Amino acid sequence: MCGIVGYVGPRQASDVLLGGLARLEYRGYDSAGVAIIGDASIDVERKVGKLANLRAALDDAPLVGSVGIGHTRWATHGAPTEANAHPHTDCTGRIAIVHNGIIENYSELREELAANGHALRSDTDTETVAHLIESYYTGDITDAVRRAVRRLEGSYALAVVHADEPGTIVAARKDSPLVVGAGTDENIVASDIPAVLEYTRDVLVLEDGDVATVTAGDVVVVDAGGAAREPERLHVEWDLAAAEKGGYEDFMLKEIYEQPTAIRETLRGRMGADGTVQLSELDMTDAEVAAIDRVFIVACGTSYHAGIVAKSLIERWARIPVEVDVSSEFRYRDPIVDPATLVVAITQSGETADTLAGVREARELGARAFAITNVVGSRVTRESDGVIYTHAGPEIGVAATKTFTAQIAALSVLALKLAQARGALSPERIASLWEEISLLPEVVEAVLADTDGIEACAAEYTGAVSSLFLGRGIGVPVAMEGALKLKEISYIHAEAYPAGEMKHGPIALITPEVPVVVVATQGHTYEKVVSNIQEVRARGARVIAVATHGDEEIARHAEHVLYVPRTSEAISAIPATVPMQLLAYHIAKMRGCNVDQPRNLAKSVTVE
Ligand code: F6R
Repeated sequence: MCGIVGYVGPRQASDVLLGGLARLEYRGYDSAGVAIIGDASIDVERKVGKLANLRAALDDAPLVGSVGIGHTRWATHGAPTEANAHPHTDCTGRIAIVHNGIIENYSELREELAANGHALRSDTDTETVAHLIESYYTGDITDAVRRAVRRLEGSYALAVVHADEPGTIVAARKDSPLVVGAGTDENIVASDIPAVLEYTRDVLVLEDGDVATVTAGDVVVVDAGGAAREPERLHVEWDLAAAEKGGYEDFMLKEIYEQPTAIRETLRGRMGADGTVQLSELDMTDAEVAAIDRVFIVACGTSYHAGIVAKSLIERWARIPVEVDVSSEFRYRDPIVDPATLVVAITQSGETADTLAGVREARELGARAFAITNVVGSRVTRESDGVIYTHAGPEIGVAATKTFTAQIAALSVLALKLAQARGALSPERIASLWEEISLLPEVVEAVLADTDGIEACAAEYTGAVSSLFLGRGIGVPVAMEGALKLKEISYIHAEAYPAGEMKHGPIALITPEVPVVVVATQGHTYEKVVSNIQEVRARGARVIAVATHGDEEIARHAEHVLYVPRTSEAISAIPATVPMQLLAYHIAKMRGCNVDQPRNLAKSVTVE
């Protein structure tokens, strides 16, 4: 996700901003910029690429002033270009803003502002906010920001300056983090704590709906209702490395805990008030969508597992046959693809060579190829006919975690869209499915709130050499993902099987030394899964079951039960995955492995 830093105090603001942004570099970004209040005007410098480019530009032409805002951008709306980089300014150039988050109603605001004569110069949602603030400005920047944010739908952390009020930064947030580092005669606004640690360890935490007026000597916070509020003050003891990980031990753990936000952001704005699924990125009419008679999914690794979950959802809800191929196989097997086929390429990085080759192959065969990716401007976005973004934010741990569950969230929306266009589900059924899907962030929060049992269970299996992961139906890709997580970060051999296949060979592997992890959440094959558990236990297996809260019965069949909240079977993949991620994480940590950078692996695989 993007990084925000704002400074007001006696120092040269550009030095503090560059230093603070450097502390946020680990989060990933594709462009950077600063706006400094100079002599009664605002000067902006922005550069594509690394902070070093911005630093070089500021070395050549320094921006002098002791108040400013800075930003590192991870593109969400519009390509990573200089014009789309932050800060953005209004028509007068006297207001500058930086923003993290997604403004859902930006198209409608953009139209309104353009109709009122505002000249917008970028593709971003952020720029509309600068012009909106301009339209409300009557001499008090805090008041203008407060009025503007009332119009915003979506998530935002904002830092805003006005050349006519040169000693002030206005900060506002909703669903996107923002803090103020409280120094002596200086204050620093930041999206994350590492950016302020060089200057202060006292941090004021802004809450959703807060608007703060930050000057060198004071921070005045007003809540969404307009009442003055004393923000929570933290004294941070973390060193820089711990602060970058938000206090977590590793990026992987941090990213596991970011899943509720990643899913929420990915689902944001996907259901219209009229009950229609919003997927304008498909750029197809409902008639064209309804004419799709087959879906091919191409992907690798974790993304491939998300593809198998999607097969189950699309076939169940939209009644369209779906084939899922590992990308490296798809292109060499002469697939039967024609113009009525929709090819969906799933790739977190958007750079995986085999998946890109699959997209090219599909388009050559006349199909429409559509990408699901987390990285705006990545190669797959340039080579596909359309893109759905997962809004998981940058994933730094090599093992995919939050991007997997965000992919499933995005694919659930696609499955509902296909079902709606084909009339395969009634409006009432779509509404009730959406209600369940939109509760997924809370469901994952509940799993993450109760993990003691997972750690205790992990402690018993740190010496395992081999393991099996079993499931049925939608539990199969969950088991596959669980096995992949365990093998790649702990180096314990892990193999996933459909539970019903065990007796056709793999059951020969069972010994008390081979733990068997079973996805045994409630669903129409639950009884069958229990029978499969009994089969392996009869051969001495020690079983770890992932089961539904309230299922007391399962405890009779398993050494350990990792409970998840009850959901309908169709959407159970996300909650069932989370305990598997944590199990793999804890086993790997107890074995002393580097979970963020497992051996032999790279985050993006750009060679065939
Ligand atoms: C596993 C993992 C890999 C990736 C695979 C595809 O944790 O991260 O299996 O899922 O390399 O990468 P993307 O999704 O970037 O195409």
